[in-house]
Amino acid sequence: MKQPVLVANWKMNKTVPEALEYGRRLRDWISDRKGPELILAPSYISLGPLAEVLAGSGVGLAAQNVHWEDKGPFTGEVSPLQILDAGCRYVIIGHSERRQHFGEGYEQINRKVLAVLRHGLRPLVCVGETLQERESGSTLKVLDSQISRGLEGLADSAFDSLLVAYEPVWAIGTGRAVTVEQAAEAHGFIREKVETLFGEKAGKSLRILYGGSINRGNAASLIAEPQVDGLLVGGASLDFQEFSDIFLSLTARSS
Ligand code: PGA
Repeated sequence: MKQPVLVANWKMNKTVPEALEYGRRLRDWISDRKGPELILAPSYISLGPLAEVLAGSGVGLAAQNVHWEDKGPFTGEVSPLQILDAGCRYVIIGHSERRQHFGEGYEQINRKVLAVLRHGLRPLVCVGETLQERESGSTLKVLDSQISRGLEGLADSAFDSLLVAYEPVWAIGTGRAVTVEQAAEAHGFIREKVETLFGEKAGKSLRILYGGSINRGNAASLIAEPQVDGLLVGGASLDFQEFSDIFLSLTARSS
């Protein structure tokens, strides 16, 4: 069985000292615990300092975004090379907040995924429908486009390192998570789509995380669903105690 993955997406929260305090606490708490693969996604400015604090702890780091070029006149952007140099191995790509507020579309997302893979970083690609799309019955059609266009041109072998997160926009930050059945349907569809486009091995090795209003009360039931390979946690990951409880609820699947 695949080791589950647990990601903390801190979004635009925590100063560097706050991130380091959490990182040290986590490092000490986690030291001899077995459990899910754990990844923190802080703001860019905390990546380098956190990498030092977490060295040797087994806790990985993810950037929350990336530019597709290695360097150049792109004020305010951060390249895959810089992310790698900061000691980070994962990059969240196409989060719905970037799609909604910053106009990211399929083409940009695809360029980012290809660039990240070229540098040996691991992309965590977010997909998911809006409430309007769900209510109009087009969830699977939306997921179909997001997968086929966002992942266009990938080698089959990319799926050993690439992760997908199913994050319905209506479930993010709203306190309204999907039901286990809704997660199973969406994850099953995404896996089948990847199998159709990239082959059975790609679909089988792909890890699909669920994200959207995860908390200590619902994490265990979602991770118990075999189609759910991990969880991407936003708001509830900001509080160390709540996030460590979520970690503990994933340990049953990890042993
Ligand atoms: P949430 O965010 O857990 O606060 O809903 C999840 C995410 O956006 O990754």
